[in-house]
Amino acid sequence: MARSKTQARCTACDRVEPRWVGRCPGCEAWGTVVEETAPAPAMAAAAAQGPRAVVPPRPALPIREVPLDAATRAATGIGEFDRVLGGGLVPGSVTLLGGEPGAGKSTLLLQAAQALAVAGGTVLYCSAEESPGQVRLRAERLGALHDRLLLAGETEIGAVLGLVEAHEPGVLILDSIQTVRHAELAAAAGSVTQVRECAAALTAVAKARGMAVLLVGHVTKDGQLAGPRVLEHLVDTVCEMDGDRHHALRLVRAVKNRFGAVGEVGCFEMTGSGLEPIGDAGRLFVGEAADGTTGVAVTLALEGRRPLACEVQALVTGSSLANPRRVASGLDSQRLPLLVAVLEKRAQLPLGSHDVFASTVGGVRLVEPAVDLALCLAMASSLSDTAIPRDLVVLGEVGLAGEVRLVAQSERRLAEAARLGFGGAVLPGAYDGPDFGLRLHRARDLREAIDAATAARR
Ligand code: TYD
Ligand code: MG
Repeated sequence: MARSKTQARCTACDRVEPRWVGRCPGCEAWGTVVEETAPAPAMAAAAAQGPRAVVPPRPALPIREVPLDAATRAATGIGEFDRVLGGGLVPGSVTLLGGEPGAGKSTLLLQAAQALAVAGGTVLYCSAEESPGQVRLRAERLGALHDRLLLAGETEIGAVLGLVEAHEPGVLILDSIQTVRHAELAAAAGSVTQVRECAAALTAVAKARGMAVLLVGHVTKDGQLAGPRVLEHLVDTVCEMDGDRHHALRLVRAVKNRFGAVGEVGCFEMTGSGLEPIGDAGRLFVGEAADGTTGVAVTLALEGRRPLACEVQALVTGSSLANPRRVASGLDSQRLPLLVAVLEKRAQLPLGSHDVFASTVGGVRLVEPAVDLALCLAMASSLSDTAIPRDLVVLGEVGLAGEVRLVAQSERRLAEAARLGFGGAVLPGAYDGPDFGLRLHRARDLREAIDAATAARR
């Protein structure tokens, strides 16, 4: 066989260059081009012949006569995961589950495998990352030892497809797509070529057999799925799992879903015996602080389409530094200094001589502008040592002019606040929806909001 030449490929847009360049001429991204081995001429020739039909072509049908797929979804048995998938796994679909190491991807899929096996399906769990012995050990802990849950430690895609032929599973789980390789390709496992070819081979088999495939995908340092565009185009559904490693909370989101809504979120808690679904987050992200504690405000953040009551805490203390500290944890660290400046200029709070520390509770990450007002009121409360009533929620985006603006889906958030037993809300003057039984304190700007929050104190 002729020697393979090297070439370079952009990991973001998949453009091929004859040699490595620092900036991709295709998508103009820096540092995304990596060297890889060009396909050997024999393989290139085979590829040039075009795709070969894996199965005999099926006739085209008038659209009304095409059977619906929706009814045939297989629920994974884990409600929070099914919610993200849009009801369960669609036969023949390929789902990618991305996340940082330690997020809990292998744990979630092993639990899903057990639940699917219990429901009557055969599940093949192929671990290319950990040895079958290691997976078995984890399975003992999770109670995932069903007879129809088959475990293999293959790292070559041809061998994996051979196991699929032999066992005909309804669901194939591959952990992870970056650690399997196609024996005919010279490129290293995890390279763009390998990831693309392996995923393409799996997709073809999944469609042909009506087998659902779940792939684990690693996330690179900057939080992107490795080989991102390549994989996102190929698969039907992309889910991301994240969570702070110091907290037990894990969130799974759908970022692409050909069979359901994106923006759905599943909440889990990592426990000693695996992931526990959190069906109702309730007041999980609201601290236990007593009424009268200053520097805390509760807002309703939207995780996907789900409103979550979340507490924002601020500590404002006198500073001897020339540049006082502004430290945010779980909040947008760019937004904090901006809001401090707005409070100083528009509400005349002397924050320029104070250090400001702000954080969320329970490891939740809040970056939407809807938390602005809660954060501002928490800072004002800490500075003036005046508590905000514990039964009050705060909703609103703060503009540079100190104005308080309406946030998306205010009604959905207020309805959840009422359901959780909050008594009142500070919200933008422009809100004209129902009150859901809450005392509404409307504020047009920061000053009015601060007054409303302190006046609401009885
Ligand atoms: P894992 O599923 O291996 O993560 P990933 O596949 O995304 O890399 O989970 C890793 C973490 O979860 C690990 O730090 C240990 C923790 N864990 C528990 O706390 N309880 C459990 O029951 C299991 C199986 C894991
Ligand atoms: Mg893993």
